Amino acid sequence: MIKRLPSASSVRTAILLTGVLLLATSCGWSLWDNPMTTVRPRSDFGRWTDEIFMLISWTTLVIFIAVEGGLLYVCWRFRDRPGAPLPRQIHGHTVLEISWTIAFALVLLIIGIPTIKIIFKTQEAPAATDLHVEVAGKQWWWEFKYPQFNITTANELHLPVGQTAAFFLNAPDVIHSFWIPHLGGKRDVVPHRVNRLMMTPEVPGEYPGQCAEYCGMSHANMRFRVIVHPKGEFEQWVRAQQAPPAESNDPLAQQGKSLFAQSACVGCHTIAGVSAGQIGPNLTHFGGRKSLAANLMPNTPANVARWIENPDHMKPGARMPNLGMTGEQSQALAAYLLSLK
Ligand code: CUA
Repeated sequence: MIKRLPSASSVRTAILLTGVLLLATSCGWSLWDNPMTTVRPRSDFGRWTDEIFMLISWTTLVIFIAVEGGLLYVCWRFRDRPGAPLPRQIHGHTVLEISWTIAFALVLLIIGIPTIKIIFKTQEAPAATDLHVEVAGKQWWWEFKYPQFNITTANELHLPVGQTAAFFLNAPDVIHSFWIPHLGGKRDVVPHRVNRLMMTPEVPGEYPGQCAEYCGMSHANMRFRVIVHPKGEFEQWVRAQQAPPAESNDPLAQQGKSLFAQSACVGCHTIAGVSAGQIGPNLTHFGGRKSLAANLMPNTPANVARWIENPDHMKPGARMPNLGMTGEQSQALAAYLLSLK
């Protein structure tokens, strides 16, 4: 019998293919502390999603071992050699046909039953003690309203640890999807419909959120930031949001304020006591936010000025028009907006 060792070139190809496969699947150690990981759950919903994921992974591992093991056994048992037995044909074997149809139906049940249970469980009617948050997904940013506290904010979702939050999801334009990987699976945000999502954050921290349904040119730029506060801190945030914005006496910021009040800004944005526009994000406490333009970049004077000068350049398709501000004007506006803490 002639034995052939794999050639050097086929070994190289195999190594290259494995490398490409690992890269393509984003496999690596960073999977465990990646900001968008789903396998580090930080809420009850996240844990349940992770449990279903692990159940499916282990089930498929068992199926993989059974199928591949059977395949290897058959390859070995009926390998080409003198006097080898011939495999028995099983075409039309009724018992086998019925058994493996039932086996696959069982696999679907193992996956389907807990999945459907969690979908219903996370849509239960909220209690009066739950935190109510109305989420509006818009092209391409997120609005968060807290009707119990009369607060409207954008792109930064604040939640208390250990209290169930009831999200009421709605979209005024197209379908979006509300997704905070650390806190659980996605839920669609659909026009003319209010979808509910119930979850209780369990670990304080900051978690990135992302629109997970293609919704147009800047879908990938439709991000948000979730801040889960430790006990007591959330109430401080609520009080700060309910108070009128603190303003600065800095001349540049004052110049920015009058510019804001005189320009088209007021038609789209609300700043408590200054303007009442409803189209763009509420900017009442804009200076207290860490990021700008749906968590696209840090909220710094330079970034805010660049954004005002050309929003479409930073977020393609952005609804905010270029108002033709000069560099000096956009710097004044940035100073004013960032003073609104
Ligand atoms: Cu909104 Cu994708």
